[in-house]
Amino acid sequence: MPHVLVFDSGIGGTSVLSHLKCAMPMVQYTYVMDNELLPYGLQSQETIKSRLTALLNWIERSAKQVDVIVIACNTASTYALETARQHTNIPIVGVVPAIKPAAETTLKKHIGLLATPATSKNTYTANLISTFASECQVDIYHSTTLVNIAEHYYWHNEMQAELLQTELQRLNICNELDRLVLGCTHFPIIKNHLQNYFSHKVELVDSGAAIARRVQHLLKNKLDQSGNVEARLVHWYATASDKIEQAAGVKSLKLVS
Ligand code: DGL
Repeated sequence: MPHVLVFDSGIGGTSVLSHLKCAMPMVQYTYVMDNELLPYGLQSQETIKSRLTALLNWIERSAKQVDVIVIACNTASTYALETARQHTNIPIVGVVPAIKPAAETTLKKHIGLLATPATSKNTYTANLISTFASECQVDIYHSTTLVNIAEHYYWHNEMQAELLQTELQRLNICNELDRLVLGCTHFPIIKNHLQNYFSHKVELVDSGAAIARRVQHLLKNKLDQSGNVEARLVHWYATASDKIEQAAGVKSLKLVS
C-alpha cells in the first residue's frame, strides 16, 4: 500500500490530509506535527530549514518506506522546499499559496493573501505573486492569532468567536477584493467561520484539492496496484506530544538535525 507522510507545524496539515484521504483512501498516512516550534510563522528561515532536514533524517533513520512527502505548511514550503528536496530522493509536494488559481479566476483583478507573517513577506511568495498575479492588485495580510484559533478549534471543538471577530476587524480585509487566498493550511480548518464573516462577496481559495490531485498523479502506478484495501488509521507523531491534551495515539518524536 502506498505511504504518504504529511508534515506541518501543527494541525493545519489536516486540512490537506482530508483532501488526500478523500481522493486516495487506499493509502497509508503518517502525520507529523512539529508543535514544539508552533507557530512556524514566527520562526526564522534557518530554523525551518533545519527542522525539515531533521525530519528527513528521521524518515531515513527509521527506514520508513515513504512514497511521497507532503509539506502541508505554506510557511515551511515557501521557506525551505528547495533545501528539503536536496536532502532526499523521496518526491516532495509542497503546499504554497494558491495565488495562481485566484489570479486566474478573479473578476475584479483584485485578490488578497492571508498567510503567516513568514509566508507573507518571503521571497518565494513575492515571486509567486510577480509570476502569476502581475495583472492583479494583491493585498497581503498576516495573522498568527488565526493559527492559534484554528488549533484551539481543532483540539477543543470550540470556536473563540470574540477573538476571531476582533482579529478579523484588526486585519480589516479590503471589501473590494473578490478572492482571498488562504495561504496557511490552518485557515481552511476555520473556513466556514471566515466565510460567514465575509458573507459571499469574497471567495476563499486554498490549495488542498490541487495538492491531492498532484499526489494522486505521483502515486498513479502504485495506486493501480494497491487493490481495494482501505488504509488503517493515520499514524500520528508530534514533537511536543505533552502539549496536546488529547494526545491519545499520538507518538512522541524528537527532531534532531
Ligand atoms: N500551517 C502552517 C502554514 O501553512 C503554519 C502555521 C504556523 O505554524 O505558523 O503556514
